[in-house]
Amino acid sequence: MDSFRIQGGRRLAGRIQIEGSKNATLPLMAAALCTDGELVLRNVPCLVDISNMARLLRELGVQVDGECGTVKMRVMDQNKVHAHYDIVKTMRASICVLGPLLARRRRAVIAMPGGCAFGSRPIDLHLRGMQALGAKVELDGGDIIVTAPDGLKGTTVFLGGPFGSTVLGTANVMCAAALAKGRTVIECAACEPEVVDLADLLNKMGAKIQGAGGPRLVIDGVEQLGKADHTIIPDRIVAGTYAVAAAVTNGDVILEEFPYDGMLAVIDRFNEIGVHVELVEGADNPMHATVRVTSERMLRPTHITTQPHPGFPTDLQAQFMTLLCLAGGNSIITEKIYPERFMHVAELSRMGAQIYRQGPTCVVAGGAPLKGAPVMASDLRASASLVLAGLAAEGETNVSRIYHLDRGYTRMEEQLNILGARIERVRDEVASKSAAESPAESNTGTAVTA
Ligand code: EPU
Repeated sequence: MDSFRIQGGRRLAGRIQIEGSKNATLPLMAAALCTDGELVLRNVPCLVDISNMARLLRELGVQVDGECGTVKMRVMDQNKVHAHYDIVKTMRASICVLGPLLARRRRAVIAMPGGCAFGSRPIDLHLRGMQALGAKVELDGGDIIVTAPDGLKGTTVFLGGPFGSTVLGTANVMCAAALAKGRTVIECAACEPEVVDLADLLNKMGAKIQGAGGPRLVIDGVEQLGKADHTIIPDRIVAGTYAVAAAVTNGDVILEEFPYDGMLAVIDRFNEIGVHVELVEGADNPMHATVRVTSERMLRPTHITTQPHPGFPTDLQAQFMTLLCLAGGNSIITEKIYPERFMHVAELSRMGAQIYRQGPTCVVAGGAPLKGAPVMASDLRASASLVLAGLAAEGETNVSRIYHLDRGYTRMEEQLNILGARIERVRDEVASKSAAESPAESNTGTAVTA
């Protein structure tokens, strides 16, 4: 398995551009199943998860040209409805073909996703949405079989669960309702920018969706959807990760295509900590801004609670934990989306971090110097936090199993090296072949997460 060898303590400076959003691209690719017309997506990031989604769509009868940059998709065969376990286990986001398949083909067979590195990840809300639209749900041999032989009917459905709204659940119900008969109202819809991007795409295809970005979506079903050409929004989690990279090295970095408007809770925490995210360009187009990131010499401790958007995103919790290791005093981080998402804590401790965990809350006693060490990546965002710690640490850090990073960051080492980091990708050809073939052993530290 490839690893990163990082020489720490180098101040980052320079300019890079934020790539397209992985979590927007995946459901938008699945929306190709909703139409016979051609779907063209631009600004698609070059990631393993995108290749996995392309593979899944091909298995479902979609011709997919390209896997990054510009991707063109068109349905060629309407008869395939089965998302097999071998692909679902590599990528939980496979579940987002459920709504599109049901809407167009009236039947979807999806392998039930298992647990992941940060706990159980149920899909009950997705299924509740489909049932509310009139579908029947059964479980057989580990597959969920969802059928609606007479088509779907609009309804009112509440999509909140114990941890708030569901992002991919909202995407699924939105796609299904776009082609259902009559009006659907989704209450407690996810408000994430990725959901807004999907609604924008579906509306370009001819759907009638109002309210995206807020908790109530009103969807008037249409007979069919057509072709569209759409550019994916920039990735707010990648943007936040590179902003933390600037801050942990006391750097001075310009980030282009920074989705400022989707990151207000993150910018608020940066301000509290003493990291300045200054708008250089894009006040009139705040999802595509250019910002300059600098930080004060002494970072301040703070408290962070992860929440559904517009709250602080769980996908930046691990990276901010690294940042707060450098602040002068005690910070408190509470994880309210995935209470078990703390795989990075033990690895950061190997580098000298002082972190005390009680259930979903961690106290980060900042100020102890981080020291380079061999550490192991366990999921996508935990891996990012370890790379950030390696940038800030004295000496050399080896982060193993960085295939997790390749699922969510396009060549992270190259981006950071442009800014003056010294990160070398150490290849292990034999092991990376076997990891690519079987990357998803649940709850073992190689688990799939996104
Ligand atoms: N939940 C339920 N029932 C459901 C669905 C979700 O109880 O049917 C719970 C989850 O267990 C969790 C909360 O609701 O506690 C939110 O989960 P959500 O459904 O919103 O997560 P998701 O849609 O499966 C997406 C991202 C994740 C990100 C979460 C939360 C994609 C491909 N994945 O997952 O991204 O953490 O939203 O914002 O969009 C990542 O990129 O590293 C990643 C894990």
